[in-house]
Amino acid sequence: MTVTLKNREEQDCMRTSGRMAAEVLDMIGEHVAPGISTNELDAICHDYIVNRQRAIPAPLDYRGFPKSICTSVNHVVCHGIPGERVLKNGDFLNIDITVIKDGFHGDTSRMFFVGKPTVAGQRVAKVSHEAMKIGIEMVAPGVRLGDIGHAIQQHVESHRCSIVREYCGHGIGREFHEDPQVLHYGRCGTGMELQSGMTFTIEPMVNAGRRHVKLLPDGWTVVTKDHSLSAQWEHTVLVTEDGHEVLTLGASGEI
Ligand code: MF3
Ligand code: CO
Ligand code: CO
Repeated sequence: MTVTLKNREEQDCMRTSGRMAAEVLDMIGEHVAPGISTNELDAICHDYIVNRQRAIPAPLDYRGFPKSICTSVNHVVCHGIPGERVLKNGDFLNIDITVIKDGFHGDTSRMFFVGKPTVAGQRVAKVSHEAMKIGIEMVAPGVRLGDIGHAIQQHVESHRCSIVREYCGHGIGREFHEDPQVLHYGRCGTGMELQSGMTFTIEPMVNAGRRHVKLLPDGWTVVTKDHSLSAQWEHTVLVTEDGHEVLTLGASGEI
């Protein structure tokens, strides 16, 4: 597949779908508490996306994924399937929301703490948020993807955490996953040069321990091999003529 450049109209559609995905995260935050199951979080998000936003939850039936959101708890790296698991004090989780509105995708995720955050959880969540932010702030025409991957990897490894290699950011638009692949590691001066009109995600998965992961038999859930904690944040970004625009900011306006 080739990289799709979005024209002004398409950029507006991406702004709308991006804002809606962020609104779901803004909405679900207050429901994250000890005693709620990930199935319940999924049901609340599904209802909000379908009945309030009149949008489509992109994960549902995507390559057979059975639910409307991804919930990745503690040592789950990504693509956790909502289920009976009940959240308890000290857990943390990534909630990953992708909505389709008027044919365009918006994709964003954040970390949420259940009850009182643990020091170890706060640490890896912070490193992964900083890494995403460092990557986003570099986005501009002419910058190369390898420069961004390198900066993200550098930050994470300098804090004695590790970057998952098997999953990456991605172009996004009419398709959920478009080219280019946005690796969260790499070498300066390599990779595709960014052009205005490109839209893609940056979503580094950061492990507190080693970088290696394992896919569970359900075919979706990715966990750290060493069972260390893992954290991820994600935004959808547009390359503009003079830099970038983050399309998935929530009501706070903060990255
Ligand atoms: N939202 C994820 C991403 O950031 C993809 C989830 S695919 C699913 O790319 F099928 F698990 F939903
Ligand atoms: Co994504
Ligand atoms: Co996502």
